[in-house]
Amino acid sequence: QHAGVRDRGSVVNVAESVLKQPFVIGVAGGAASGKTTVCDMIIQQLHDQRVVLVNQDSFYYKLSEEELARVNEYNFDHPDAFDTEQLLSSMYQLKRGQAVDIPLYDFKTYKNDVNLPRRVNPSDVILLEGILVFQDARVRDLMNMKIFVDTDADVRLARRIRRDTLEKGRDIASVLDQYSKFVKPAFDDFILPTKKYADIVIPRGGDNHVAVDLIVQHIRTKLGQHDLCKIYPNLHVIQSTFQI
Ligand code: CTP
Repeated sequence: QHAGVRDRGSVVNVAESVLKQPFVIGVAGGAASGKTTVCDMIIQQLHDQRVVLVNQDSFYYKLSEEELARVNEYNFDHPDAFDTEQLLSSMYQLKRGQAVDIPLYDFKTYKNDVNLPRRVNPSDVILLEGILVFQDARVRDLMNMKIFVDTDADVRLARRIRRDTLEKGRDIASVLDQYSKFVKPAFDDFILPTKKYADIVIPRGGDNHVAVDLIVQHIRTKLGQHDLCKIYPNLHVIQSTFQI
């Protein structure tokens, strides 16, 4: 005898809790490709929903004094630069509907300020953004939708020079040096190969309003299915799905 047939009520409860889990969207792509802009546009359009943004930068490992002293030699674009276990545990917590403290990363001091964490509350939609969020299979498995922001290398480099000199207080020579030594090789070796995991590839990043509109429509459809489940807990389709 099927457990579901014996106890319809609990089967529906399980179905509801599964369907009510937050909708997790992964946004990957090269550095300065426009991931943040795409996320901001999604957040703006979903203003009537509870949406949070989690940044992979928050999970950069703390540098030792030795690494700090030779920071130009440090590869921030390598998968090993991130504490993926910590990222996973924070994401599992959010997915379970619990609030979590996520440190803010300071690009100027190269520090993850654990004394200044940002409280992230459970939400309907979680955007997980970062250059390598598709790298680890366990992180990918948390995602309901995967977006890769695909922007030409020259545009990414131009943006990076502007951003790193204006916002991070770096000089052009060091930006170009870091780009050729670490950023470009890591894009080719680690970031670009994860494009194959994407459900959607957005050319031109934040300039692509049509792509963002389509994505938001899809998210709304998915969230609507969650809402239906809340209104009609005995929804026939849910029961039949979970009694198999
Ligand atoms: N990085 C850095 N210095 C640090 C830590 C990280 O220069 N102390 C750089 C890494 O070299 C990496 C980049 O930050 O290339 C990752 O952040 P990125 O994805 O560029 O940030 P976003 O602003 O989120 O990107 P986008 O423009 O796509 O929104």
